[in-house]
Order: sequence, then C-alpha cells, then structure tokens
Amino acid sequence: MTHVHKIYLYPLWLRIWHAINALGILILITTGITMQYSNPAFKLMNFELAVNLHNISGIAVSVSYFLFIIGNRLTHNHTYYRLKLKGLYTKLTLQIVYYTYGIFKNQSPPFPISEKRKFNPMQKVAYLIVMYLFVPGLILTGLGLLFPELILENIYQLSGIFLTAILHASLGFLTSIFLIIHLYVASIGKYPLNNFRSIVNGYHDTNIH
Ligand code: HEM
Repeated sequence: MTHVHKIYLYPLWLRIWHAINALGILILITTGITMQYSNPAFKLMNFELAVNLHNISGIAVSVSYFLFIIGNRLTHNHTYYRLKLKGLYTKLTLQIVYYTYGIFKNQSPPFPISEKRKFNPMQKVAYLIVMYLFVPGLILTGLGLLFPELILENIYQLSGIFLTAILHASLGFLTSIFLIIHLYVASIGKYPLNNFRSIVNGYHDTNIH
C-alpha cells in the first residue's frame, strides 16, 4: 500500500520570493538575449521595450532578493543550506552516480528528503553558488550599468562599462544554464510535476510503500 506523507518545506514568503524571482528571471533572460542579438535588420522585439522590461524586472528581482536573504535569516530555512566541506566530495560523487545511473535502475536516492534535509548536496552547492554569487553579482553589475556614475570609468586601458557589461552578460549566461538544469532536476521523480506543485502549495509529498 502506498500512502502519502506531506512535509511543509516551502513557507509562503519563500514561495512569493520564488515566483517573483522565476518570472523576473525568465523575462530578464528573454529581454537580455534580445538586446544582445538585436540588430535593425532582424528584430526579436522592440529594443526600447526590451530595455524597459529588463530594467523593471531587474529591479523586481533585486528587491525580492532581499526577501530571500531576510526570510532565510529570520527563519530556519537557512539551515537547509548549511554545507559541511568535510566529506563533500564523496557526497557529491554519490549524488552524481545516482543522477546518472541509480535513478535509471530504480535505486533509492542517497539523500532522501525529510523535515531535516530539503536539499541533496548537489542542490545545496548549486543553490549556494547561484543565490550568493550569481544573483548578487548580477544585481551589482546591473546597478552599475543602470547608474554608470557608480562604476570606475577605466580599469587599466579598458572601459569600466565594457568590463561590467561582460561580467553581467557572463553571469546571466551561467544563470540561464543553471535554470535549464534546475528545471530538469525538478522534474525528476516518480511524478514529474510533483516538485512544481510543491513550490506552489508548499508541501512535498513522499510516497511511503
Ligand atoms: C520557471 C522558472 C522556475 C521554476 C519552474 C522553478 C522550480 C522550482 C522548484 C520545483 C523548486 C522546488 C524543488 C527544489 O527545492 O529543488 C524550486 C526551488 C528553488 N529554486 Fe526554482 N524554479 C524556477 C526558477 C528559479 C530561478 C531563476 C532561481 C534562481 C536564480 C531559482 C532558485 C531556486 C532555489 C534557491 C530554490 C530552493 C528554495 C528553498 O527551498 O530554499 N529557481 N524551484
């Protein structure tokens, strides 16, 4: 017999942050690519519209980032992100072997979800890098491009705006790669839509046989 045990893992504030962040970043990626490859002969979207949408979504994502930081500080959600460096390599290897082999052989996950553990070690590492390196990096470089008087005019012989733009676009590219993997990994499991339902209603279902 299978019965479902529900764990409340995604509190309301986190779901609100995630919704603004996900929608905002989708718009940022679309308008960012549009601006990058824009040329008068081939218009993906009106250029002015792309710039305005990019600025507005960038500000929305930046403001909601504070919700993520403050929410994590004030609740126990930050405990799920705690990473022990000791043994990390072995744990990551176990998780990679599961994702590339075990899962296709119906083996059980090496780090199952519980009240105490929301993320496996690979999710922890990915979420830490994205949320504490990529997103803040995008926010800071984005602010620099929005208010160029804040950044250095030249760094050695190179224009400060040019360097900031390269850094911003590179981080945007890396975040897009993360998003593709994030969507794939979220769909893994017995029922592909389960995790997507969880980030909307807050509850994770575990099937107990
Ligand atoms: C269409 C866009 C997106 C969808 C459908 C989506 C889906 C999901 C799902 C299903 C989860 C719960 C599963 C899990 O905890 O791994 C989740 C959690 C998470 N997502 Fe996304 N995501 C999207 C975009 C993003 C973006 C753009 C970022 C960051 C830049 C992001 C960062 C996170 C983080 C950090 C968590 C864990 C939050 C926590 O529980 O503390 N997501 N997402």
